[in-house]
Amino acid sequence: MTETELLSKKTSMLEEVISGLSQQQKTLPSKFFYDERGSKLFDDITELDEYYPTRTERKILEENVNEIAEYLGEKILLIEPGSGSSSKTKILLGNMENICCYIPMDISGDYLYKVAEQLRLEFPNIQILPLSADYTKPFELPESSPDARKVVFYPGSTIGNFKMEKVEQFLKVIHDIIEDDGAFLIGADLKKEIRVLEAAYNDSEGVTAEFNKNILTHLNKELGTSFNTDLFEHKSIWNEEKGRIEMHLFVKEDHVVGLGEEVINFQKGESIHTENSHKYTLEGFAEMVSEWFEVEKVWTDERDYFSLQYLEPR
Ligand code: AVJ
Repeated sequence: MTETELLSKKTSMLEEVISGLSQQQKTLPSKFFYDERGSKLFDDITELDEYYPTRTERKILEENVNEIAEYLGEKILLIEPGSGSSSKTKILLGNMENICCYIPMDISGDYLYKVAEQLRLEFPNIQILPLSADYTKPFELPESSPDARKVVFYPGSTIGNFKMEKVEQFLKVIHDIIEDDGAFLIGADLKKEIRVLEAAYNDSEGVTAEFNKNILTHLNKELGTSFNTDLFEHKSIWNEEKGRIEMHLFVKEDHVVGLGEEVINFQKGESIHTENSHKYTLEGFAEMVSEWFEVEKVWTDERDYFSLQYLEPR
């Protein structure tokens, strides 16, 4: 990135932060979790006993990879928005012969290109075409993409982080990219006992707490804000009405934080809402996507904790 691009990135980050913290219920966009330390902490979360989604989804993929391959078809161009380390995708790349090309996508290019290099070594028969772009806005595939069935893979129940209105926007972007004969393979976390959900987001080792607080450390580093992270306490709460886990940072004392030219006042006991993680019923999910997609097939685990869904465009 050029100096000017970096500067405008920081300015828009600061604007988003100020706008979130100026609301009645203070909020921060969850995308700001993921600096280098945040990404590492999220990887640690996926290894926790209480955090079931990652290992459950992996198991669903491993156990059904042959059937998944049949649904996806003969010649596939696989696209993954927010691919990160592509670790789940390797299950597909390593076990399916019908993938001719893989397009991992991420906002930050550095890590993306590094992962792409490793994938080329590991899967020499698959064309790897990394694409650095923001997938929440309309985007275009690389010119050199081969002519094949376009399948978008979106694991992790990351769709659960979007607010309901943003979901519609995202579904439309995916619908446009895969065209009439494409498909959408997506992970969706399911509703279950509240104690299981709350434990997954309030782990006993405090890794999720570190992950949540790291958003403030990240802002301090990137924007020079003055959050005293010791004054904040992590808590995740199930919101029954909205059907989601909410992560919050509660402030233990009155606190004044400088942000650029502005100052934000925190009152003892109030919180910053940092993340939503929606959980679904199978019916609710089908209904949510129904304007753009039809659910053709659902794979789950034996406890019905998580689902992998095969969708076709309407
Ligand atoms: C990466 C968005 C799927 O919502 O479960 C994990 C992020 N936050 N623990 C999720 C997360 C707290 C995770 N996603």
